[in-house]
Amino acid sequence: MSVLQIDRQDPVVVLTLNRPEKLNALDQAVLHELLRGLEELERADAVRVAVLTGAGGKAFAAGADIAAMLEMSPEEAKQFAALGHRAADAIERARFPVIAAVNGFALGGGCEIAMACDFLYASEGAKLGQPEVGLGIMPGFGGTQRLTRRVGASRARELCMTGRTVGADEALRMGWVDAVLPSDVLLPKVLELASLIASKAPLAVAAIKRAILRGQDVPLPVANEIEAAWFASLFGTDDQREGMRAFVDKRRPSFQGR
Ligand code: COA
Repeated sequence: MSVLQIDRQDPVVVLTLNRPEKLNALDQAVLHELLRGLEELERADAVRVAVLTGAGGKAFAAGADIAAMLEMSPEEAKQFAALGHRAADAIERARFPVIAAVNGFALGGGCEIAMACDFLYASEGAKLGQPEVGLGIMPGFGGTQRLTRRVGASRARELCMTGRTVGADEALRMGWVDAVLPSDVLLPKVLELASLIASKAPLAVAAIKRAILRGQDVPLPVANEIEAAWFASLFGTDDQREGMRAFVDKRRPSFQGR
């Protein structure tokens, strides 16, 4: 049984972290599988949106694997963090949006991976946290930075320095998650969102993703230049002509991602 299930329902794909007996804790094998899966999907043109969730119904992922980290040297820890960063970056830079369906605990590295997703939807019983400080370490897969971008520096400091676990409703109020849903409708609602986005022009979706990602860390005039370049790049594509032609013809467009 693979530690990452890949369920192609083209144009949507569901990725399930699959170590339920360890609450989907992220060890090297899981992170490598995630990277390998994302690389494969990057080349699969029929895939337009990915959903990332956890197996077992109790956790999305309860963190980086503590047992595996116990005896790590600083050099090994550096390599492990680099692997976690690569996995988070691969999600963030994927040509398609990735939606996290957080169906339980999203702690430590699990939360850091969820925060790299384009959308973070949580079930009512979900619990988020960056508890590393209680283990003598700190977030290492981008948590201090992505959490700061989501909730602001003061809240990120408080959450990372106390390591406290936060329920879904509080996480929603502070902007840590984007939506909270009853657990039985979490996946159906996420798949609905995925299908809606998958019905839109794929190159435009990818350009929006990149413009927002690249634009958020540079001054506004530079960010607007980035947007302008991506905007222009969509003209002359088959999908631009199809989208506008369909509007004029009063029919639904059929986008090919070209
Ligand atoms: N790394 C490795 N194993 C983990 C893990 C992690 N981050 N989180 C859970 N597990 C394992 C447990 O060791 C246990 O394994 P075992 O049955 O072989 O003993 C199994 O998953 C189930 O976890 P358990 O602690 O028994 O479940 P619980 O319902 O009592 O508690 C949590 C759930 C999430 C509160 C608890 O597992 C926890 O605190 N996990 C660590 C969270 C954390 O600090 N993450 C950040 C890591 S940097």
